[in-house]
Amino acid sequence: MSNIVEAENLSVSYAGKAALHSVSFAVVEGETLAVVGESGSGKSTLLRAIMGLLPRSAFREGMLRMEGCDLAALSPREHRAVCGRGVTMVFQDSGASFCPVRTVGAQIVEAVQSHEADAKKSIMERASSLMGEIGLDPSVLSAYPFELSGGMAQRVGILAAMVLAPRLLLADEPTASLDCHAQEQVLDLLLRLKASHPFSMILVTHDMGVARHMADRILVMRAGKIVEIGTREEIFAAPKCAYTKALLAAMPMIRKGTGKDGICD
Ligand SMILES: Nc1ncnc2c1ncn2[C@@H]1O[C@H](COP(=O)(O)OP(=O)(O)OP(=O)(O)O)[C@@H](O)[C@H]1O
Ligand SMILES: [Mg+2]
Repeated sequence: MSNIVEAENLSVSYAGKAALHSVSFAVVEGETLAVVGESGSGKSTLLRAIMGLLPRSAFREGMLRMEGCDLAALSPREHRAVCGRGVTMVFQDSGASFCPVRTVGAQIVEAVQSHEADAKKSIMERASSLMGEIGLDPSVLSAYPFELSGGMAQRVGILAAMVLAPRLLLADEPTASLDCHAQEQVLDLLLRLKASHPFSMILVTHDMGVARHMADRILVMRAGKIVEIGTREEIFAAPKCAYTKALLAAMPMIRKGTGKDGICD
């Protein structure tokens, strides 16, 4: 299996204040890596560094490679051009990331056309067929963002990321703003899409239950550093770091025996 993304001694600081301290890890083809850790530990910064979406005030150092291409020396604009359609992102509140006065379909077309020269008709056809996969009627493409519930908006955000057929999907707490039912729908949708499309995923979550449900490997962050990384089984059966043990001890046990402890229903 080859690496999709690889970081070595990657550091990011904002106006001189360190947010990521020399982190090293890789994501291999097809795997899901969950990134967990407390608020402010640098999870979103890590995703933004990979996506080339760091603000101007940020300073990045260290090696970052995407499918063998060295991104370290590139400007944010060049970085995004290199990643192109290969890396897409789902945000915590997709509804808020859409423009409120244009239909979601028009915005999906525009986003795709910024990466490829496909005609509107063919992009809408791809989006309509994905609508079936995410369990929504294709007519939702003609809706305005304010007409969607939080769960629908999040599924449309995932669709927008999937239309580009990414090789790496970055999901930053995609269920944090949802109620329990919508949360489970979105997580199951991501699992179904992973089973039927060949992409790798980095999923940021606060919730160890979500990490266990979704991930092949789990990366634990604290104060901008990786404190532990291992397979889901290693992390849950034999955590090495005291911080990981504390995160596991803090997990709510809502549905004992279902394998989904920590995910409410
Ligand atoms: N644009 C920015 N300018 C200055 N500092 C920032 C900026 N974005 C993040 N930071 C700082 O970098 C550190 C890491 O923030 P980051 O958003 O990556 O954490 P996080 O783990 O995603 O937190 P959360 O779980 O709350 O989303 C924090 O100290 C934060 O205050
Ligand atoms: Mg964050």
